[in-house]
Amino acid sequence: MSDDVDATVRAHHLVIVANRLPIHDVDGEWRRSPGGLVSAMLGVLRSRTGAWVGWNGKLDQTEDDLALPTIQEIDGADLVSVPLSSDEFSHYYEGVANGALWPLFHDAIRESTFDADSWVTYREVNRRFATATARSAAPGATAWIHDYHLLLVPAMLREIRPDLVIGFFLHIPFPPQELFMRMPWREEILRGMLGADLVGFQRSVGAENFVALCRRLLGVEADHDQVHSEDDRRVRVGAFPISIDVHEIEQLARRPDIGARAVEIRERLGNPTTVFLGVDRLDYTKGIDLRLISFGSLLRAHTDTTSTPQSAPIVLVQVAVPGRQGVESYVEERRTVEQLVGSVNGEHAAIGYPVVHYIRRGLTLEELVPLYLAADIMLVTPRRDGMNLVAKEFVAARLHDRGVLILSEFAGAADELTDAILVNPHDPDAVEMAMDMALTMDPDEVEHRMSNMRKVVTTHDVHEWARTFLCDLTETGDDG
Ligand code: G6P
Repeated sequence: MSDDVDATVRAHHLVIVANRLPIHDVDGEWRRSPGGLVSAMLGVLRSRTGAWVGWNGKLDQTEDDLALPTIQEIDGADLVSVPLSSDEFSHYYEGVANGALWPLFHDAIRESTFDADSWVTYREVNRRFATATARSAAPGATAWIHDYHLLLVPAMLREIRPDLVIGFFLHIPFPPQELFMRMPWREEILRGMLGADLVGFQRSVGAENFVALCRRLLGVEADHDQVHSEDDRRVRVGAFPISIDVHEIEQLARRPDIGARAVEIRERLGNPTTVFLGVDRLDYTKGIDLRLISFGSLLRAHTDTTSTPQSAPIVLVQVAVPGRQGVESYVEERRTVEQLVGSVNGEHAAIGYPVVHYIRRGLTLEELVPLYLAADIMLVTPRRDGMNLVAKEFVAARLHDRGVLILSEFAGAADELTDAILVNPHDPDAVEMAMDMALTMDPDEVEHRMSNMRKVVTTHDVHEWARTFLCDLTETGDDG
């Protein structure tokens, strides 16, 4: 790289680093990806001459692309593309990130596969992200690294650029000691994360687990909100529960065409008395299967309200967004979910009146908000979830304080949305009872609970989350 190019590339004062860039390819054209995180990150990048370092979703780009990051621009922020080969994708993304880390960090719901060769690739890809970040950052700049794909990047980056202020945020749960101890590369992971000045988690329990493991495995001094690293730095640790772009959801929920679409959805469903809704990635952590089993039991218990030849008074709309289909456990999960959809419909549907409406594709926010408005009861029942933003989106969309949220105790959102019906998703009877409770809840109580939850969500949105993290990070950098 010539000095001129190097100077341009290095001009960024804030660099966001994540596995994915905030763009995706639609029929040969790059579009900005949806989601509150993207809008919050682009917001802070715009205000500070920033860059986003990540993978553009395409595999096996040319030799040149593999050697050098390519730069594009979106909404005033530069995009630095880190290339991946198919082989790297299979080891780094499918093998380690989604075959070892994801299941282990989600309570080992599925067995992790630990493959030493895949780990070598994970390390190499992390090194590539660190190098691309180092080249993009201005002297003394701030780098904010995201999620479990990039656990080693903080330390690698510090090694190349000790002048940077480095933050790391984990979007998924950080597991308890007994589970983390299974990880063959456990010390390396902790050391990787400790390269940051500030390490953020969704919940305080994640921060506590991390601190305890640093003490136990690295023998370093640590208390509840800081770890003294082996290279003699103070690394701050804390909980920063992520949120959503409340304004964006509220604006959509107020739009007359979106309201009309919600009415149309209910009509198309056959004007049922009650619409349950689930919106999830098609992932075994999300508990879609458990939910379907409980929904089937609920219908069995309410034989008077299952489909008649003329109607289906209680229906469930389940949106399942596919992904990670190269990982066997995801293929299995899809099979299980689809068998259950068939089984519940087989038992309870009438011709023209299914009880489960299953949509396996991604929906835009413009399509989701009408569903949030059309539903009476939202089911968010993951076996384990870092936060779960769908729960918060549903609440933000319910401008008139109606609607009930059934929420798993094992989702990060349960710490804040305490007015949901909190439920243990592993207990099928409890989920069925929660559904029953939601069906019969007094309207005043529904309103009271939703209004409390709306206060929580509207006073803490994703922009505030990003500002708080960056503000704490900068203070931490000043200390050092
Ligand atoms: C979770 C992770 C994100 C990830 C998203 C979608 O929310 O925390 O880092 O981007 O899932 O998964 P995918 O594998 O499609 O990127």
